[in-house]
Amino acid sequence: MTLPPGPPLPPALAITPWLFRPFPFLDACARRYPDAFTIRLPAIPSAVVFYQPDAVKELFSAGPDDVHAGKANAVLRPFLGDNSLLLLDGAEHLRQRKLLLPPFHGERMSSYGERMLEITEASLARWPEGRTFPVHEKLQEITFDVILRVVFGIEEGGLFDRMRAGFRDVLMAGMNPWLLLPAVQRDLGPWSPWGRFVRLLAQADELLYGEIRRRRAAPAAGKDDILSMLLQARDEEGKPLSDVELRDELVTLLVAGHETTATSLSWALRWILASPALEARLVRELEDNGGLESLEPDRIMKLPLLDATVREVLRLQPVVPMVGRVLQRPMRLGGWDLDRDTPVLLSIYLVQRRPDLYPDPTRFDPDRFLRGKFSPSEWFPFGGGIRRCIGMAFALFEMKMVLASVLARTVMRLPRFGRVREVRRSITVAPSGGMPVILEARRKRQGRVTSPASASTLSP
Ligand code: HEM
Repeated sequence: MTLPPGPPLPPALAITPWLFRPFPFLDACARRYPDAFTIRLPAIPSAVVFYQPDAVKELFSAGPDDVHAGKANAVLRPFLGDNSLLLLDGAEHLRQRKLLLPPFHGERMSSYGERMLEITEASLARWPEGRTFPVHEKLQEITFDVILRVVFGIEEGGLFDRMRAGFRDVLMAGMNPWLLLPAVQRDLGPWSPWGRFVRLLAQADELLYGEIRRRRAAPAAGKDDILSMLLQARDEEGKPLSDVELRDELVTLLVAGHETTATSLSWALRWILASPALEARLVRELEDNGGLESLEPDRIMKLPLLDATVREVLRLQPVVPMVGRVLQRPMRLGGWDLDRDTPVLLSIYLVQRRPDLYPDPTRFDPDRFLRGKFSPSEWFPFGGGIRRCIGMAFALFEMKMVLASVLARTVMRLPRFGRVREVRRSITVAPSGGMPVILEARRKRQGRVTSPASASTLSP
């Protein structure tokens, strides 16, 4: 088998730009190697990176036994558990996916919208005024609370607070990159990094198992959260998800769903606030479609410019910049004959910045999504095929609810100094400095602005 050429760096040197300057590194590779290249990193087999829509289409149409994705996520096993959708492959992956999909269907979204708006508005009321602050952490609190309330179905109160604190602690402890090394994954008591992580995880899990048992024993009628629906779900043989399967999937939804959405929202604010003309058009769109006063999920959902803006954010700044698969049989992809067991990466970032698909690709231009449509192999920030993100409709919906609330209730701007760079935050690529912004004024319910500040910058 001949692999496409690639950067001649030794693996030990290639890992640094790959991890810490991923986009300039990918751009440099793309300038040199058209459509595909091979990357050699330490301790893993050489991987072929494709960024040509035909190869994307070929790989996404492969069946569950032709390519696997779960193996690539094995480092997450201690946290997510053996039954996580992200780790499974083949028939078992399909079984769990079928059970998980119905609550994420597009039609279900409007019933989650009210809670998303409520959570955002409560958070906005606490954002500081008149000084620079990192908005990423506020957005992360919103997306975290959305998962606890909409997915886990836990209403505010004692359990909500304990669960929030418990999983925050685990996620913070789990951010330590050293924990990914198997040699460090040894419990040397509560003060060792791994020992602390497993104890915090056990405490958070205990709360989650308690809730699963309580809800199983006394199902609450009329609840429409995702856990309630998963408790009712049955596979083709009539079997429900076990407690351990439910726990693993809930933690997977928390991990896969909150940081990705918060980071995409940070990028959205970065680009919207950099373009007063676009911001004014977005506010006008809200005003013309029911006004700023009462925000209604179904109306927000259908706003064309807001939709185009969200899609353009995910095109220009895909927070998960690539998806991986391992071939389970020899395959021809993008004109290359590849052996079984070859790892293949599809670069979302490079495809979505191809000038032949997106003219002037580094320009933030939501109107390109109003002028034309893009296929699932040209725009795929949520991956594709049988592994496509199950939270896609949920995330698009949530981004629109949060952005509509921010636009309707606040006047924000970017600080005058300081350039925002792309930095890696565990699995995602995020804006540097936690995305600093300034909240200049709050709009009162009638669309008026409550402090003098720069309201005029927003007037269309
Ligand atoms: C803007 C936000 C999000 C982005 C950019 C994103 C992106 C992705 C990507 C790229 C994948 C891998 C797909 C592939 O391999 O082809 C994925 C998988 C997944 N995502 Fe998301 N995601 C987001 C939000 C969410 C949300 C809100 C949830 C759930 C609440 C979620 C749950 C999942 C799950 C469970 C998988 C695994 C699917 C499988 O392996 O079958 N994601 N996501």
